Amino acid sequence: MLKTTKSEEIFAAAQKLMPGGVSSPVRAFKSVGGQPIVFDRVQGAYAWDVDGNRYIDYIGSWGPAICGHAHPDVLKALHETLEKGTSFGAPNALENVLAERVIEAVPSVEMVRFVNSGTEACMSVLRLMRAFTGREKIIKFEGCYHGHADMFLVKAGSGVATLGLPDSPGVPKSTTDNTLTAPYNDLATVRALFEANPGAIAGVILEPIVGNAGFIPPDAGFLAGLREVTRENGALLVFDEVMTGFRIAYGGAQEKFGITPDLTTLGKVIGGGLPVGAYGGRAEIMAMVAPAGPMYQAGTLSGNPLAMAAGIKTLELLHQPGTYETLDRITTRLTQGLLQVANETGHAACGGSISGMFGFFFTEGPVRNYEDAKKCDLNKFGRFHRGMLEQGIYLAPSQFEAGFTSLAHTDEDVDRTIAAAKTVLSSL
Ligand SMILES: Cc1ncc(COP(=O)(O)O)c(C=O)c1O
Repeated sequence: MLKTTKSEEIFAAAQKLMPGGVSSPVRAFKSVGGQPIVFDRVQGAYAWDVDGNRYIDYIGSWGPAICGHAHPDVLKALHETLEKGTSFGAPNALENVLAERVIEAVPSVEMVRFVNSGTEACMSVLRLMRAFTGREKIIKFEGCYHGHADMFLVKAGSGVATLGLPDSPGVPKSTTDNTLTAPYNDLATVRALFEANPGAIAGVILEPIVGNAGFIPPDAGFLAGLREVTRENGALLVFDEVMTGFRIAYGGAQEKFGITPDLTTLGKVIGGGLPVGAYGGRAEIMAMVAPAGPMYQAGTLSGNPLAMAAGIKTLELLHQPGTYETLDRITTRLTQGLLQVANETGHAACGGSISGMFGFFFTEGPVRNYEDAKKCDLNKFGRFHRGMLEQGIYLAPSQFEAGFTSLAHTDEDVDRTIAAAKTVLSSL
């Protein structure tokens, strides 16, 4: 039995201080039940809790820790930058360096604006889509999550899906009237929405690989179809690569699938574990952003030197030869191993992985969209999650979240994880 006395004490106190005891909902373990674990420190592929238990961590701070937690080179870069101060509120040369790296890597990005989170990146890109096209409607997909700005809280994934919440109270109907939705991987519905709203749709935004309704890859031809339909209708195609950017490939999902959107949002990995987001795209569109153009968007801490330094070093590490092959090999072994033990122990399961991102569902599958994902056995997942925690394996506490590996995960970690899954699944 896992000893969690200190976690329990701290979380009990936290619940009196912060809503639900957390700073972000999914961390409270509500959908899987049981005691959330309070972390003390992280290193490489591992996390240690306040009771001294060690876990193999497959969340990696929800994506940023792709080189492994607290990578010594990233920490060194941070220490050096810290000596010069924590925030300038003025231009600094590190912004240029990270901007250059992002522009070189991500096919759609010719210019970039840094912000502080993925949410900020997505809400800013939406304003830009509207400013550039002079149109107000957008299409998003059911189960995709683009942060918590009002306009996106319609059939949203991530915590909203995890907690089974309806679209959030506090979001005025007027702010979501222009948000149209379609099932993921359903090109026919997208075409029908364009036909029903001629000249009114600014663009389509999506996760090119869904991670916020569980892991759901695009069907062959889906991204190409969206590129075609947006072009035909004078609308913009926006890839939200907050999760997939620099994770699926150095140039993100757009490089992997060879489809170049007009605009892209980024976050997570490009901040190397510090708060960062970014949006970028064709120079002609980015020229709309203030002060170059009239579309206002700003930020006190945007382009912060510490976040830039951690991001630059992280991208440098990722740019070395073989990184994505390593991630892909480890993650494929992990996912195939988990599916195999599910099969051996008589549990229906499906799933997959691309590079350092993976997922599986307790259902026969296939899972092509959020409706399919909802058919999975959530109760079984909750018991599996708890069992894995007891075995020292820290998985995302929701069927509706992807998992992440890092360059620090070893074959031995994967073997231990699969063996743990076998033990747990045999007992369910
Ligand atoms: C695809 C996607 N977009 C946007 C966001 C929001 O980013 P943040 O949590 O940094 O605001 C997330 C967060 O998980 C995400 O996965």
